[in-house]
Amino acid sequence: MKPITCDTSRSLRLPQYWLIFLVIALGTILITACSQAESTTDYLPAGEVDLELMAAEYPAQYEQWESSVHGQAYLDGDTNAPACLDCHADPESGEIETAAFQLDIPNRCGRCHADKELMADYDVSADVYETYLADYHGTTVAYYRATDPDSYRYEAVCSDCHGSHAVYAPENEQSSVHPANLATTCQTCHHDAPENFAMAFGHYRPARTPVSNAENPLIFWVKLIYQAAIPVTLGGMLAYIGLDVRYRLQKRKNHHDDD
Ligand code: HEC
Ligand code: HEC
Ligand code: HEC
Ligand code: HEC
Repeated sequence: MKPITCDTSRSLRLPQYWLIFLVIALGTILITACSQAESTTDYLPAGEVDLELMAAEYPAQYEQWESSVHGQAYLDGDTNAPACLDCHADPESGEIETAAFQLDIPNRCGRCHADKELMADYDVSADVYETYLADYHGTTVAYYRATDPDSYRYEAVCSDCHGSHAVYAPENEQSSVHPANLATTCQTCHHDAPENFAMAFGHYRPARTPVSNAENPLIFWVKLIYQAAIPVTLGGMLAYIGLDVRYRLQKRKNHHDDD
């Protein structure tokens, strides 16, 4: 009588098994690389924030935050909203002045604002990170973040339009992106921009279509490959296992029938 283990070890040597392993390994590498290309979760808060200390050390920032949409929610007990260490490290660390931090701001905000489930709870659109990346400012900032993170750039990041601490919903008159204030906000950098310049732009959503090839070829192609890789890899694997199991059952049944 032949031991079963012998069968298994021999089957491991069969080339099609290694082919499957190769496909799985390549698929995993590809999927990991693709999800990293879009990852917005590199930064994690350092730990508990001492709000009393923050208020004493940085009264101006604290007061702006306190009455903002974030501060009001946080102080109401909603820890989904950011406090001082959720967007940056302790100001004393010097991180805020670095180019790397400035280029990382969209990802810091995106950690929450690209989170569809979280944003659905507040009825706030979760496409703001994606639409930002697709516009001129976002494409440029993402490019330098990836290739030259020590360079200071002047393209607008989230906080240049929304403010860092005095953040409000666009409908709120206090918001720097409220229609009445938007042109002034753009003009801090686009000095000669006419009033209607700003009207042409917010988070540009051409009928809310997904990111297109023309707007951002890299993201477009990464997404396409990503979307194709999963069904192809998993589908191929399942089909193979299915066929293999069927074959073995058939073989076993034939054995029994022979007996
Ligand atoms: C929603 C994200 C966010 C939250 C919450 C936040 N900050 Fe900031 N903070 C920023 C950003 C972005 C900058 C950088 C501004 C710049 O340089 O353009 C900044 C800059 C600063 C600075 C440097 C000086 C300045 O104003 O540029 C200090 C000090 C500071 N924050 C303190 C605080 C304190 C204290 C709190 C909590 C009460 C807090 N921050 C909460 C995003 C945030
Ligand atoms: C830790 C998570 C978190 C981070 C980081 C964060 N936010 Fe928010 N933000 C929220 C939550 C939660 C709300 C909804 C609060 C509410 O409505 O009670 C919100 C609300 C807002 C709103 C109002 C949206 C609306 O229409 O009501 C704006 C604008 C905004 N955030 C911008 C920013 C910007 C800009 C940054 C980065 C500088 C940032 N946020 C960082 C969690 C976050
Ligand atoms: C060039 C200016 C500009 C930049 C940069 C910018 N925003 Fe906005 N944002 C706007 C304007 C204008 C609106 C209101 C009109 C709209 O929604 O398009 C808005 C709306 C929002 C809203 C409210 C969405 C809702 O549900 O109504 C959120 C949240 C937000 N932005 C977050 C962000 C985050 C996060 C970033 C960075 C990843 C960012 N914004 C970058 C100008 C900007
Ligand atoms: C923090 C500075 C800053 C802010 C605020 C800002 N931008 Fe820009 N923007 C830039 C820079 C820098 C460039 C690239 C150089 C250039 O073309 O002027 C740019 C480029 C652009 C471009 C593409 C190139 C061009 O000049 O046509 C558009 C469109 C644009 N911005 C629109 C806006 C609008 C609309 C607002 C306000 C909602 C705004 N920007 C706010 C810095 C900013």
